[in-house]
Amino acid sequence: MLKMIVACDRNGAIGKDGDLPWRQSTDLQYFKKLTIGSNLIMGRKTWDSLPGKLPGREHFVLSRNEHSDITIINFEDAIKMEGWIIGGGEIYELFLPHVSQIYRTIINTRVENADTFFPDITGEGFELTDEEFLEAGPKDDHDMTFQVWTRR
Ligand SMILES: NC(=O)c1ccc[n+]([C@@H]2O[C@H](COP(=O)([O-])OP(=O)(O)OC[C@H]3O[C@@H](n4cnc5c(N)ncnc54)[C@H](OP(=O)(O)O)[C@@H]3O)[C@@H](O)[C@H]2O)c1
Repeated sequence: MLKMIVACDRNGAIGKDGDLPWRQSTDLQYFKKLTIGSNLIMGRKTWDSLPGKLPGREHFVLSRNEHSDITIINFEDAIKMEGWIIGGGEIYELFLPHVSQIYRTIINTRVENADTFFPDITGEGFELTDEEFLEAGPKDDHDMTFQVWTRR
C-alpha cells in the first residue's frame, strides 16, 4: 500500500528553482516521524534536491536514465510497493490514482513565481479524514494545517 506526503501553499505550489520555497522545520519533523523506517519513492529531481539519503529510510528513485549512486525503480514495480510517495510534481501526478491516503500540509502562504505544483485532488475520490492547524514555531516561516485525505 502506498501513501503520499506533500507540503503545498494555498495555491498548491510545492517547489521553486528545484527546491522547497519555505523554511518549515515543524513540517520536516512531521515528515520524519511519519516516514521513518519506510520506503521513500521519488522522482529524480526530488532526489537531486535532497542533501543525500535520509537516515532510517530506503530510497527508490524514478528516472529514465541510469544512476550508480541510488536504487532506480520503474513505475510498474513502484505501484506494488509499500511506502511513501514523496514527490515531486511529476511523480505526485503519476501516482495519485494508486495511493490510499494523502498527508498534505497546507503552508499558509502564497509563493511568488512557483514552478512546481501538487495536482488538484477534487473529484479524485478522497475525503478529508483529519485536519489540525498549527501556528508557526520559531523555525517556521508560516502557520500550517496538517490534513489527511483518505480514499473513499
Ligand atoms: N513541497 C513538497 O512536499 C515537495 C516534495 C518533493 C519535491 N518538491 C519539489 O518539487 C520539485 C521537483 O519536482 P518535479 O516535478 O520538477 O520533478 P520530480 O517529480 O521530482 O522528478 C521528475 C523526474 O522523474 C523521472 N520520471 C518522471 N516520470 C517517470 C516515469 N514514468 N518513469 C521513470 N522516470 C520518471 C524523470 O527523471 P529523469 O529526468 O532522470 O529521467 C523526471 O525528470 C522541486 O522543486 C522539489 O523541491 C516539493
